[in-house]
Amino acid sequence: MKIQIINGPNLNLLGVREKSIYGSADFETYLAQLRNRYPNINIEYYQSNTEGDIINKLHEVGFSYHGIVINAGAYTHTSIAIADAIAAITVPVIEVHISNVYKREEFRHHSMLACNCKGVIAGFGMDSYRLGIENLISE
Ligand code: DQA
Repeated sequence: MKIQIINGPNLNLLGVREKSIYGSADFETYLAQLRNRYPNINIEYYQSNTEGDIINKLHEVGFSYHGIVINAGAYTHTSIAIADAIAAITVPVIEVHISNVYKREEFRHHSMLACNCKGVIAGFGMDSYRLGIENLISE
C-alpha cells in the first residue's frame, strides 16, 4: 500500500520556522517515526515550495496510490490550481494542518482545497499527518 505525503511551501523549514506555532521537530525525524510505526505501508514524501511542482506530484501519484495526505501550506488558502488537481485525480486526498488554522488569522480560515478533499485535519501538531494516514488505511 502506497501513501503519498505532500508538503507545500515553507514546510521544509519545520523545526526552524515559527517554533511556537509549528514545534521544534523537523519533518524528516517525524517521517522516520511514521515509517517505523507503519512498516507495511510505503510512505512516500515530497516537499516543494512551488505550486506547479505540487500539481505535477498530484498528477503523478493521483491515479495509482492508496491515498494522499497534503499540507499545502499557504497555497491551501489561495490555490484554485491545486484544488483543480485534487478534483482531477481519483485517489482520496486528506488535507492536514499542523496548527489549528481556525484559531489563527481569518485568512487561514478558508481552504480552497477542502471541498475536493475527503476530509480535513487541523491542529494536532505533526500528529495531524498520522491521523490522516490512519483514516486512509482504515478503508
Ligand atoms: C499550515 C497552516 C497554513 O495557514 C500556513 O500557511 C502554513 C502551515 C499548517 O500546517 O498549520 O504554511 O498549513
